[in-house]
Amino acid sequence: MQNLSVYLVEKDTTALQLLKMYLKELDYIDIIGENETLEAAHSEIIKTTPDIVIANISDNINKNYEMTETILKRLPSVKIIAMAADYSTDTIIRAMRAGIREFLPKPIIKDNLLKSIDKFKNQILGDNTDENNSKVLTIFSNKGGVGKTSIAVNLALELANITKEKVALVDLNMHLGDVTTFLDIKPSFDISYLVKKIDSADEEFMLSTLEQYNNTGMYVLADPPYMEEAKKIQPNEIQKTINKLRTTFPYIIIDTNSTFDAITVTALDNSDLILLVSAINVPAVRNCQRCLDAFDRLGYEEEKTKIIVNRYMENDDIKIEDVEKAIDKPVYWRIPNNYYTITSAICKGKPVSVINNDSNIAKSYRELATNISDNIYRQSVIKKINRNPLAVLENLI
Ligand SMILES: Nc1ncnc2c1ncn2[C@@H]1O[C@H](COP(=O)(O)OP(=O)(O)OP(=O)(O)O)[C@@H](O)[C@H]1O
Ligand SMILES: [Mg+2]
Repeated sequence: MQNLSVYLVEKDTTALQLLKMYLKELDYIDIIGENETLEAAHSEIIKTTPDIVIANISDNINKNYEMTETILKRLPSVKIIAMAADYSTDTIIRAMRAGIREFLPKPIIKDNLLKSIDKFKNQILGDNTDENNSKVLTIFSNKGGVGKTSIAVNLALELANITKEKVALVDLNMHLGDVTTFLDIKPSFDISYLVKKIDSADEEFMLSTLEQYNNTGMYVLADPPYMEEAKKIQPNEIQKTINKLRTTFPYIIIDTNSTFDAITVTALDNSDLILLVSAINVPAVRNCQRCLDAFDRLGYEEEKTKIIVNRYMENDDIKIEDVEKAIDKPVYWRIPNNYYTITSAICKGKPVSVINNDSNIAKSYRELATNISDNIYRQSVIKKINRNPLAVLENLI
């Protein structure tokens, strides 16, 4: 096995010695440099391109987030483990937004450090047997034309921008999809091609098969252009494809059609979160209710589904509270009605943020992406702390 190079950033000499002592236990680690602050270490890190940087970010935390972003821009594949005495969820969420994927409360607990390094080792060496944290979000409604594709496209792009992670946008509207039209792209491959190669598909294959959108972190998996190809795709192949995508993309956004066909139900079954879209009118709300009943019969946990009201207007006759009462569930998000901006975006084949980044609708998609990613980070932090409550306790002593 090849060795991994590690760069250490720690001002406190005792803590630094301790780190080195812990790392000695891993015979595949080479410490290739050390410094007192990320700012001082910055140019050396760029020059030496370590696999992993372990950095104390406690002092001047904002500066350290800034340095992390600068380093990751130059070296996108470097893995950063941040250490800090303050491990409130807000601090951790900001760290994650800066691109930090592992966060360790100080003082460091050896076991936690070694586990984080082991996780990175698996990622760097391509042995992804570790738990998979990828999230699958499906945008669904049993009514057509409610805004599913608009939400899928704009949410996927905002998630990629905010999280700096790779996001797959999958069009499951077999041969009737709109994603390529909304983005004005002509991908070289589509889902029918990936499905055929799925057993041997690795990360490199997937990144070259899905169409990267304009140098962003969003990768599009288009629907097949021909009905004959679309018809051949089986639900178990969709399941396999989603599982494979999970190994490369931290976020997978699926745009669906408006029926409970076998392909759509497979996507819904394999989702971590379903965004159920509704308009504010009586038939739409009634359909939303039927959909929630169907999800219940499919055995989905209540929290798996969140309601999005699209085309929201403050002076609507029906109020949000009326909707919540009718469906007995809170509305998670409301996207304002802005026909002019969205139509202009669709006609030009561009995301809403490109058409008018300051519009209420661009802001709403962006905040939705922030909210979703923050919730996901928060859950992962809570999971980590629950898994090791002693870590919290030891930091309090
Ligand atoms: N927030 C919004 N404000 C105003 N108009 C909107 C909004 N969202 C979507 N629309 C309009 O609704 C139309 C349908 O949107 P979209 O294609 O995203 O829905 P869909 O649910 O994917 O439809 P389909 O069921 O045909 O796939 C769009 O052409 C757009 O004009
Ligand atoms: Mg659509």
